[in-house]
Amino acid sequence: MSDQLLTISGLSAGTEDTPILHDINLSIGAGETHVLMGPNGAGKSTLGHVIMGDPVFQVTGGSIMFDGQDVTDKGADKRSLAGIFLSYQAPVEVPGVPLYSFLRTICQMRPELKTTARKFRARVGEIADQLDIDQSFLTRELNVGFSGGEKKKIEMLQLLLLRPKLAILDETDSGLDVDALSIVSKAIEAYRADCDGALLMITHNTRILERLSVDHTHVMVRGNLVADGPASLIDDIDSNGFARFENELAQKGVE
Ligand SMILES: Nc1ncnc2c1ncn2[C@@H]1O[C@H](COP(=O)(O)OP(=O)(O)OP(=O)(O)O)[C@@H](O)[C@H]1O
Ligand SMILES: [Mg+2]
Repeated sequence: MSDQLLTISGLSAGTEDTPILHDINLSIGAGETHVLMGPNGAGKSTLGHVIMGDPVFQVTGGSIMFDGQDVTDKGADKRSLAGIFLSYQAPVEVPGVPLYSFLRTICQMRPELKTTARKFRARVGEIADQLDIDQSFLTRELNVGFSGGEKKKIEMLQLLLLRPKLAILDETDSGLDVDALSIVSKAIEAYRADCDGALLMITHNTRILERLSVDHTHVMVRGNLVADGPASLIDDIDSNGFARFENELAQKGVE
């Protein structure tokens, strides 16, 4: 049996009309940190959503194994309970649902996180302080009217509360001011250290990676994973961009 936490094999997926991901193979071991880079529109967020089980996308081939289970046909709720977490590039607003009630509900659904109301309130307060989130946010409707940076911090609050086995962070660093970026970086580091969680970081910037020890870097171009390398690949991309990978794909005759 594979000792990988996540094994994606020959995965193709897209919307009803448009193929987006082509024959993706990717494995992430428990506690590893992987980075996914690629030009705008390459399919990085789509891959994150497909791993999470977003019903907007259909899998047309291949499989997703997570923690020993085939989750390819499982709903997002089941995958979340199994330990997959996706921080959205653009977190959704949920009118009518107070943030605190939302957090309490998602934690009560997990046997390992069930706790008394008093302990839960203390834990949420502690994490909110760690993330420099004002406690008044807890009574507001989930993400409604939150600034871009505030929404990203609320995603980190969920990450630290839920302690997933795999966290996919989709451009969590975008739109954060320099202080917020430092706070969020520390939160990601805390997640790694506290629960030995695995990370798939989707990002265009290297700053958020400075505190992390990156095990693998993957490059996606036009829905294809075209390279897999060590952390040094990030610096290469920073200096030289994606042209090399685009050219290699073109030479293989991929449109
Ligand atoms: N729901 C959708 N319906 C139609 N097309 C979609 C949908 N979601 C994504 N796409 C298309 O799939 C392609 C990949 O989009 P995706 O958001 O995954 O890119 P990305 O690599 O995350 O880009 P960025 O770096 O800009 O965030 C794009 O061409 C996009 O327009
Ligand atoms: Mg994206």
